[in-house]
Amino acid sequence: MAEIILNGNTYSFEKGESILDVANRNGVHIPTLCYLKEITPIGACRLCLVQVDGAKRLQAACVTYAMDGMKVETDNEYIWTHRKQMLDFILIKHPLDCPVCDKAGECMLQDTAYEFGMMSEKVSSEKPQDPKAYWNKIVYNSNLCVLCERCIKSCHEMTGCSALKMEDRGFYNHVTPAKGETLNCDFCGTCIDRCPVGALLDTQFHNQARVWDLDETTTASPFSASEGDVVYGVLDGKIERGKSVEGFQISSQSRFGFNYIENPSRIKTPLVKSGGDFSPKTWEEVISVLKDRLAGCKPENTAMLMGSRLTNEAIAAYKALMGAVGSKKIVTEADFTKPAFMKKYKEKFGTFANIRRADDLKKADLIFVVGADLRHEAVGLKWRMMNAVIHNDCKLITVGLKRYEYDVFTNKSFLADGGDFGGIFEKIKTDNAETFADVREYIKDAKKIAFIVGNEYTSSCPQPEAVLSFADFVGKDKMSAFLVANDKTNIYGLYAQELFANGYSADELIKDLEAKNIKNLFLVGFNNTYTGETAERLNNALRTAETVVAVDLFNDGTSAKANIFLPAKAALEVDGSFVKIGGRLARVRKVVDTPGEQKSDTEIASMLAKIFKAEIPPCPEEIYNTMLAGKSGYPEVKFNILDSCLVIKTEPSFNETAYKYEQPKSGEKTVFVNPRHHSGTITAKANFTFRDEFAVQKFHFQQAEETITAETCESAAKGIKLVTKKF
Ligand code: FES
Repeated sequence: MAEIILNGNTYSFEKGESILDVANRNGVHIPTLCYLKEITPIGACRLCLVQVDGAKRLQAACVTYAMDGMKVETDNEYIWTHRKQMLDFILIKHPLDCPVCDKAGECMLQDTAYEFGMMSEKVSSEKPQDPKAYWNKIVYNSNLCVLCERCIKSCHEMTGCSALKMEDRGFYNHVTPAKGETLNCDFCGTCIDRCPVGALLDTQFHNQARVWDLDETTTASPFSASEGDVVYGVLDGKIERGKSVEGFQISSQSRFGFNYIENPSRIKTPLVKSGGDFSPKTWEEVISVLKDRLAGCKPENTAMLMGSRLTNEAIAAYKALMGAVGSKKIVTEADFTKPAFMKKYKEKFGTFANIRRADDLKKADLIFVVGADLRHEAVGLKWRMMNAVIHNDCKLITVGLKRYEYDVFTNKSFLADGGDFGGIFEKIKTDNAETFADVREYIKDAKKIAFIVGNEYTSSCPQPEAVLSFADFVGKDKMSAFLVANDKTNIYGLYAQELFANGYSADELIKDLEAKNIKNLFLVGFNNTYTGETAERLNNALRTAETVVAVDLFNDGTSAKANIFLPAKAALEVDGSFVKIGGRLARVRKVVDTPGEQKSDTEIASMLAKIFKAEIPPCPEEIYNTMLAGKSGYPEVKFNILDSCLVIKTEPSFNETAYKYEQPKSGEKTVFVNPRHHSGTITAKANFTFRDEFAVQKFHFQQAEETITAETCESAAKGIKLVTKKF
C-alpha cells in the first residue's frame, strides 16, 4: 500500500487522497479556511501550506495529492511564517469588526486569528465600505467576504442550483447572483452554513442576537422526511434561527419556516361550535362536552383520519385510542399520497419501506430520478444525489414533466409528455436512437443503480407499475436503492405502524360518511390538501358525521369542518421521534415552550382514552418504551438512545412486475406538476402567501408559481391540462 511520511511518521493512503485528507484522518492538524469535506477542494485561502520534500515552494495541502514516499512537514517556523502572511493578506480587506458581527463566536477567521496569535492586522489599510446586498432571505456583506468560494462551490455541488458566482477582480472581487439581481434558488441557505465568516447571513437572524446567547437544540426537521437534523437557536423563549448540522443540508422551510408556531391565527384554547360559531372552552369543559357527545359511541360508527405531522408516539397513542373505542376504521394520509403506486410497490418489494438507505445514493454510479422535483419533495435526497454525481462520477438521468435545476448535471434528461413515463422506459429498453442506446450502455456499465421516484410520476403516470417494471429491466443485482420521495414529515411512520392498506380505505370511509354510518370522526393532524376525486368527495362528506373532533394547530382547511377543536402542540414543542426516508429514526426534541394552552397529541390521546375507560400514557418516552420498542420493526432500544437507529424491516423481495406498456390514448391528458407541498403542518399557502409575514417567503411562492405555469412547463404547450393544487 502507498505510504506518505508526515512529520517523520509514516501513514498509508488511498489513491486520490490529498495531504490534508491523510493528515485529518490521522489527527495531524493543518489549519484551513476554504476547505470543506463535502465539496471538491478549492485551494483559495492557502492557510493549509505545508512543506513537501523536493518542491521549490510551499504547497496547499488540500489540493496536493498524496504520493507514495512523499515526505511532508506540516509544523515548523518557516511554514507558520508563510501561513501568517496569508492571513495578513486576508485581513488587508476583512475588517476586525468582531464586536458588531453576527458571526462572532462561531467565525472560522476569528478562531484562526486566535490560533495564529494574530490579535491585530499587520498591514493597515482602508477597508471597503460597500453596501450589503439583500437577496431576499439571504444578506451578503462583501466587506466581510474572504473570497474562499465555499458558498459558490457548495451551492453548485451540494444543491445543484449554481446560483452564485464570482465577479470582478482583485480588491473588488465579490460574490454575486449567477443570473440577474437576486438569487434564483431554493433558498436552502446552504451557502450561509458554509460561509466561514459573516459575509452570508440569513436576514431573519441578522442583528437579532449574539450566538453565544442562543440556547441550541438539535431536532429532526419538522418539515421533511428526507432532511437531516436542524439546530434551532432560542433566545428568551423565541426561536431566532435554524441551521443544518455540519455536513448536511436543510430546506428553506426548516431554516426559515419555524415561526409558524407564533402565527396569531394559531389556536391556543379548545373550541366548541354551537349555532355555527366556535367559542373557547377550558380543557375541563371540552372534555365534559366530549363525554356527553361520545356517550354510547359505537365502534362501527367511529372513524379516524390521521395526518403525517404526528410523531411515532402520537401515531401509536391515537391508534391505541381507536383500539379503546374498538374501531379499526383508521384512514391516514398514506391513503392520499401515492396509494395506487404504493400498493404495486408492496407487491414488488413486499414492504412499504424504502429499499435501502438514503446514504446508498452517494455510492451509486447511475441514478434515475423519475418524476421527482427534489427541491420540493426531498432536499435530503438531492444533496446525496449531487454528492454521487460530483464525487463518485455517477451518471444522472431524469425522466420528468419539466426541467429541473440539476438538469445541468444530467447525462440524459427526458420529458414524459402527458405523464407517459412508460413510453420513455420502453424507448430506453428497445429504441436504437443514440440517446436511448446510451442509457442502455450506462446500465450495462453501472454496478450500483439507484431510483428516486416522486410525486409527478405517482400522480401522473397512468400505469404506476411502469417504473417497477423498468427496475426489472435494470435487474435486481444492480439495483442498489429504490427510494420513493415524499415531502410528508412522518409518512414513513404511518407505513411503519401499518396504517395504510390495512383493511379500511379512504373510499370506504367516504362511502360510510355518505351513508351517514359514521357518527363520530376524529381528525388528528389531518389536513386534506390533496387534489382528485377522492379528496374532493371526502371534503364534501365530512360534515355528515355528528361529532367531528379536530386535533391540530390551525382551525382552517379540513379542521374548520369540525365542531370540536382541540389545539395541539407543534413538533417544535414536543418530544418524540419520526421515521425518516430510508428508515432512520430521528429524535424530535422540544425546542421551545408552547405559547398557549395547547397540549401535545400524546396528552390529548391520553385524555380522550379516559372517556373510553382506557389508559394511554401521555409521555412519549413511556409510549415508545412500552408500545413501540421491539414492535412493528421499531428497534428494541430505550427512547433516549433511539436517534439514528434503523426501523428494521424484513429483507425486501424482488418480485417481477406484471406489466405491458399501453400507449396513452390521444386526447386531453391530465398531469400533476408539483401538485403538493404540505409538510403536515404548513402548506405552500401557509408558507408563501397567507402567513408569509411569519413563515418562509413570498418569493418562494412566486418561484413555485414559475415552476408550474404553462410557460415554464414544456409539456403544457402540447395540449395537456395542468392540474396544480391551489391551497
Ligand atoms: Fe487549502 Fe484553503 S484550505 S487552500
